[in-house]
Order: sequence, then C-alpha cells, then structure tokens
Amino acid sequence: MCGIVGYIGRRNAVPLVVEGLKRLEYRGYDSFGVATADGRINIIKKQGRISESCVDPLLLKGCMGIGHTRWATHGVPNDVNAHPHTSCNGDIAIVHNGIIENYSEIKRSLTAEGHTFLSDTDSEVVAHLIEKYYNGDILQAVFSAVLHLKGSYALLVICSSEKRVIAARKSSPLVIGEGDAEMFASSDMTPVLEYTRKIIFLEDGDVADIRDSKVTIYNNKEPVERKSELVEWDFESAKKGGFDHFMQKEIFEQPDVFFNSFNIEIPEKAVADLKKASQITVVACGTSYHAGMMFRYMMEKYCKIPVRVEIASEYMNFNPCKNSVMFAVTQSGETADTLAALRSAKNENCITFAITNVLGSSVTRSADHVLYTRAGPEISVAATKSFTAQLAVLLKIVSCLCNDDIEVEISGMHPVIEEALLYDAEPAALICRDAASLFFIGRGIFYPVSLEGALKMKEITYIHAEGYAAGELKHGPFSLLCEETPVIALCIKDDSYPVMMSNIKEVKARGAPVIGIGSAGDIDLEEICDFYIPLPKSSEISEIINASVILQMLAYKTAVLLGRDIDKPRNLAKSVTVI
Ligand code: G6P
Repeated sequence: MCGIVGYIGRRNAVPLVVEGLKRLEYRGYDSFGVATADGRINIIKKQGRISESCVDPLLLKGCMGIGHTRWATHGVPNDVNAHPHTSCNGDIAIVHNGIIENYSEIKRSLTAEGHTFLSDTDSEVVAHLIEKYYNGDILQAVFSAVLHLKGSYALLVICSSEKRVIAARKSSPLVIGEGDAEMFASSDMTPVLEYTRKIIFLEDGDVADIRDSKVTIYNNKEPVERKSELVEWDFESAKKGGFDHFMQKEIFEQPDVFFNSFNIEIPEKAVADLKKASQITVVACGTSYHAGMMFRYMMEKYCKIPVRVEIASEYMNFNPCKNSVMFAVTQSGETADTLAALRSAKNENCITFAITNVLGSSVTRSADHVLYTRAGPEISVAATKSFTAQLAVLLKIVSCLCNDDIEVEISGMHPVIEEALLYDAEPAALICRDAASLFFIGRGIFYPVSLEGALKMKEITYIHAEGYAAGELKHGPFSLLCEETPVIALCIKDDSYPVMMSNIKEVKARGAPVIGIGSAGDIDLEEICDFYIPLPKSSEISEIINASVILQMLAYKTAVLLGRDIDKPRNLAKSVTVI
C-alpha cells in the first residue's frame, strides 16, 4: 500500500506532487520520492516521511512529474528501495502501488538480457520491462510491459523525451483529475480536489495516456470511454481545521456523520434483495469487522435474521456464502482481503452489498449494490468516524427491514453524542498511560465495542490492549491480571448487567484496577470501580455509540500523554491493498 501522484500541465510539477504525496501519507510513510522530466529524468528519493522533509522545487524542474510515498513490502525502507525506479539508461521512471507477484522470474530473465537492478523491490522490474519494449513510444511500451505483470498495480510512468504521463491500473486504485489544461493522477482523490472536482475512476486493465489537456484511456489496447464524475467531497474537509490531529477532528465530526449516514436512501431494489435474505454474511477487516460484528447483534435481536461475520482474510477457509447475501464493509473500498472475499461470494451467486466511504473505490465496481457511508475523507490511520458511519448505515438497514422504532430512537441522539464528546478522558487516560497491558471487556453488543476500544488503544498508543468477552476472561487471561493491567469494563444497564457486575468483582478480587463505563447515575458501578465514566442518559443505541466515542477519546488522550504519532502510527497504513 503506497500512495502515488502524477501531474502534467503548465505549472512546476514538484510542489503539486509533494503536496499530493503528503495527503496520501496515510497509505504509507516509510520513504518517498519524486521524479520530473524536462528532457531528462530528475529524481529525489529518500527514506523517511515527505511531510517531515524538504524537497526543493528548484532542484527538480519540469511541468510533468510523478511521486510516491511507500509502505514497504519488498525490501526494507531505504533510499534505494524508495520509488521512483528507473530504467538502466535512466530515461524512464516509474512509481508503483501494489505487488508484482512474478517479479523474481521477470528479474531473472531481464538480468540475463543485461539489465542491472539496484533495489530489492518488486516494482523496479516494471521500469526495466518498459525499457525493453521502448521503441520511441512510451504508451506502446507500457501496453507490452503490463502483459507480463502478475499481481496488482497502479503505475505512473514518465519518459525523458515525451510529454505525457502513462497510468495503468489493475487491482490497485488510481484516479485521474481533469483540470484546466492540466491533469492529475493519484491513488485517491484527496490530492486532486484542491484543483479540480472532475474525477475519472480508472477500471482494472485500463491504461491512460495523460497529456496536459486531454486523457485517452485504453483497455486491451482499445480506446474506451470513462466519464468523469463530479465529486462532492470538499478539500477543506481533508484539512485539520484547528484541531491538533486529524483523529481528534474526526472524532468530533461524529454527531453529523452519524446522522448523515443514517439518512441515506436505500434503493428499493436493494431493500427487495435484502428482504429475500434468509442469512447474511459480512466480511470485513479491522474496525470495519467490529462494525460487522455489531450488526450481527442488531440483526439477530431486531430482525431474527442469522448473520455470519467473518474476518475477510479467513473467509476462504470456510464454506462459502452460497445463493444468499454478502456485505463487504470497508471504509476505503480497497482492502484486498475484503475484495477477495466479495469476489468469491459473487462466484457463488450471492447478492453482494458494498458498504463503503469512498466513491468509485474498487469495491463499488464489484458489488451488486453500493451503500455509501457519509463520513467524508478520513485521514487519520485509526478509523473513528468511518466506524460510526458504518454503524449508522447498518442500523438504517435494520430499521428498513424490521424496526421503524430505531428511526424515532435516533432522532434525539445528536445532542447526546455531543455531550459524550465533552467528556474529559484525561484522568482515565492517566491510568492507561502507565499500564503494562489493558483489557477491554463487555457483553452482548458491548463485546465488539470493547474489541474496537482495544484496537484503537493498541493502534495509536502501542500499549498491548486486548478486547475480551467479559465472560471469557476467567478462561485464561485471569492469570495476567495484576495492578499493572487495568481493565476497562463496559457495564450498561441492560440484561447482562448483573453478570457484568459479577465479572467486575472477579477482576477486582485479582488486584486489577477497573475503569467502568456505564449508564449515567449508576451508583453501584461507581462504587465498585476505581474510576467510573458515566454515559449520557438516553437510549440503548446512543449508549452503544457513546461508549465507542468515549473509548476513541480514551485511546486518543492516552496517545497524547505518551507523545505518540497519532495520525500515523508506526508500521500501519490506512488502506491495505495487499493480501
Ligand atoms: C487497516 C486500517 C484499519 C482498518 C482496516 C480495514 O488495517 O489501519 O483502520 O479498519 O484496514 O480497512 P477498510 O478500509 O477495509 O475499512
């Protein structure tokens, strides 16, 4: 998962490419590079983050350039493995996002033909392969080269002697922005929106010949028409807007995001297909998987429809969903594991639904029905508002199918979520900051809420945190409990309240401090816990959302106290396009 950006037009390409890469750093940030062409190829590439480096636009000149921000897969992050990579003669430069699965084989045969490789990457073979086929026309050379590539790629290619950027896509995202006598190419639209809202989403197998005022797209070497779409997302929403971190800003956007997402229209045909479902399978990864787990509790409770929820990367190991309904839940719409599971369900005649945040993303091209969450661009690697948006859309589905009361329940929630946002999580964060390990426990729907709370905590604080079904803690993890392992217990006044209270007492008896999150005014809970966090009084659904919001803030505050790199935690990337 890397980010790529290209520009061709009348301006100096370098500042535009550099700014674009900064917006794509959520896709990877271990090294970066930029290349321009002005009769020759000029390159700067380095280990580290582009947002923390200075690329002097005067060192690289040219109105045509490409750039890359990397998340290493083949070869350690260093200056040499950073993209762009070049041909032996240095006249061709490429940037690549994806994995070339047969790169060893290609490398061996090109080495035998006399090519010299400098890096350990899979991507470098692309530059040499294009060089092999280059005969004065870079487009034709790319056509020939991509025929040999197995795996996934979003590629941008420039050549010293031609005024065009060639883009190619297979199973990795790539968009083109059509400006006024200038064109942009990028892994997603966020770097482009400042300059144009006219976006073309390339399809698998497309190769685009991008000139400054026109783009021609080919598939199987035949010209194809791809209409540009006018994108609503605005550039401002991809800025921090006065907050210290994107994560903080995104947490605070949740009241609106929840309502906007709940208020989507579900098309009649989609509702009809859902009504036929005797079982639903959900596939997802990470935070989206937790939203899927929560959907299961809601569907089974309100609609009595069985829901199977699988981690997308494990889906292949079980009986496939056959002739039924599958939901792929994915913020980015690009997660490779989720896409693979969805495609295999299609082969088994399932009706497929994509629930995603990103217009035109890969999942939207594969699924039968697409329901968009309305979270707007989410920049922080740790997902927050997109999770709430997924829950809102999933709740909308439940409401459409079997429980109109949800709509009424939700109508009064806006101020309640806002009240939760006012909660000062710092005192609780001070307890978490010094922990050796943290456990998050809950029952029923609060079990996936606790899983998500633990995921947020470990992602951004680097403290080991585990989510557990409260009843399961005694089957092993009890051996780990001590004063240094605080337990965050979600103990809401629902049917499981009495057993949850017993579980908390068992934890306390083993010496672990307990932070209890529960319904407002719960004196009993306040009494037995070392620290009590009351949820604003309201409905069951608002308690679920507010508990999630408070756990996000707890992770955020703990990470602030620890001085972590909150929006770009180490080793992670937001969009995981490898299996
Ligand atoms: C990555 C991100 C997580 C995200 C997961 C699934 O691991 O770091 O925050 O939950 O991918 O992403 P998706 O875009 O499919 O929801």
